[in-house]
Amino acid sequence: MNKRGPNSFTIDEQNLCITQGRIWMPSHPKADKEGVVTGHQLFIKGKKIEAILPDNEVQSELKSTYTNIKLEGALITPGLIDCHTHLVFAGNRAHEWQRRLAGESYEEIVKSGGGIQSTVNATIEASEQMLYELSLPRLEALVKEGVTTLEIKSGYGLCYDSEFKILSVIKTIKENHKLDISPTFLGAHAVPKAYTTDPEGYLDTVINKMLPDFWHKGLMEAVDIFCETIAFSVEDATRLFKAARELGIPIKAHAEQLSHLGTSELVANFKGLSVDHIEYLQKSDVIAMQHSGTVATLLPLAFYFLKETQKPPIDLLRKYAIPMAISTDFNPGTAPLASLRLAMNMAAVEFGLTVDEILLGVTTHAAKALGRDNTHGKIAPGFMANLAIWEVDKPVEIFYELGTNPLIYRVFEGDITN
Ligand code: NIG
Ligand code: FE
Repeated sequence: MNKRGPNSFTIDEQNLCITQGRIWMPSHPKADKEGVVTGHQLFIKGKKIEAILPDNEVQSELKSTYTNIKLEGALITPGLIDCHTHLVFAGNRAHEWQRRLAGESYEEIVKSGGGIQSTVNATIEASEQMLYELSLPRLEALVKEGVTTLEIKSGYGLCYDSEFKILSVIKTIKENHKLDISPTFLGAHAVPKAYTTDPEGYLDTVINKMLPDFWHKGLMEAVDIFCETIAFSVEDATRLFKAARELGIPIKAHAEQLSHLGTSELVANFKGLSVDHIEYLQKSDVIAMQHSGTVATLLPLAFYFLKETQKPPIDLLRKYAIPMAISTDFNPGTAPLASLRLAMNMAAVEFGLTVDEILLGVTTHAAKALGRDNTHGKIAPGFMANLAIWEVDKPVEIFYELGTNPLIYRVFEGDITN
């Protein structure tokens, strides 16, 4: 994976000393105004970052026990974290996109039997092996951009067997790739066709059967729900979150994407990890989020692909110091775009985020959205040695020129690959 040219290599399971790099550590006392620290060496022991030391404090005998990687000025950031994707599914929705291009809305297509349900139909038909194979190019595209942690949701099964199948595929991905995977159960993504007249009955199955079973089988780390007029209500979410709390399961939600329901305030009241989309977020939600530490996950690719005009309230989020994450939301309906760097570019152009906000959004804050903020998303001693190394001068260049790729090395749990 991520091999480049005939001289490609992987160095596994060794202690590394990375020298002559420029390290993006915005809270370091020696950071310049772009958050970059120079004249320091980064030591990795096993899977973790051991130390970051100024050049003049490194003794040569210490260095001799490490494999030296010389960077000649390349920029080191934490490995990127894509904290919201739906990348295990079959089929595509190009035909629906054409309908939207001709003027129909996403809601109209959902109401006519398309939308999530059409991907569910294709996914139910697909074998586990087929779903796995379909996922590979999507996740490889993300990995090639320096992603080292990837959240993947279920949610295109909408019955026990198919949700189980998707979560099993996510588990296989985790076992076969140098990638930190965070699986999320999204059984409450839509009401399946078979339950149209009994949506409560479907939610009962999600809450009483799928949630405890998948949790006890170790197939999920968090539970998500899509709250919208075309999906579940705040009351439904309350039932789900109460059940999750009983089991000790972290929660999150697709919230305020197409309208304001107040799901974000509810998530905050349950001390949830994140609320995602949030174009219609209001002050009452933001105040509750400030108290709970809930992350605001921005999904600019879905905003773009749905031709939304309502933008998330960035100034309000800034005013209340809410951590903002940025993610692809990769999915066949609203964001068939497997590029976190494109999401970063659009967060700048469409939402007006600063370079620092964007880099924090795909590292430190994305880690927090996954409950991994003590171990991932930061270059600091004790954190996982997950890094992306870029042939760029300024941090902004990481997401400035697209179509080309400035990533030169990726470090995953101490293993470096070019
Ligand atoms: O994050 N909003 C709900 N879920 C996905 C879209 C799913 C689909 O249309 O297939 C999202 O945008
Ligand atoms: Fe989503």
